[in-house]
Amino acid sequence: MVCLGNICRSPLAEGILQDKIEKRGLDWEVASSGTAGYHVGELPDSRSMEISRKHGVDISHQRSQKFHPSFLDDYDFILAMDIANYEDILSLCTTDKQRQKVQLIMDYGDDPDITEVPDPYYGGRDGFANVYDMLDEAIDGFWQTVILAME
Ligand code: 4NP
Repeated sequence: MVCLGNICRSPLAEGILQDKIEKRGLDWEVASSGTAGYHVGELPDSRSMEISRKHGVDISHQRSQKFHPSFLDDYDFILAMDIANYEDILSLCTTDKQRQKVQLIMDYGDDPDITEVPDPYYGGRDGFANVYDMLDEAIDGFWQTVILAME
């Protein structure tokens, strides 16, 4: 799960998917990171921690990390929150196998007109509630696609 700062959107995406993995008892590994290193080592934004806690998902153990090109080999899917993140990650790819892993997370959402998760950093709490709902829906779509492909 990749956004810009790895303190608002992608920590929520990591937490939501991690919650589903634990509930299903799977051993998938999920992580998040940012294309920029401004907040490396920091906790998620307090507004992300608050909205996830309201949904019963704890993300307070997470710490911001910068996206590293080795993740392109370490993980099977690289899900970007917006088009800038998507293009930044694609620019780091050196093989077609890596390029194929990079996707926009909202491609798994229900509304084909919504392509990006908006950056909520400079907005208020409503923005974070909206981002949580968007991610929850898209991660359900991702989950169903991946689980169906495995079965
Ligand atoms: P995120 O949000 O990419 O969802 O973590 C942001 C966090 C910090 C900044 C921008 C976006 N920033 O400019 O510091």
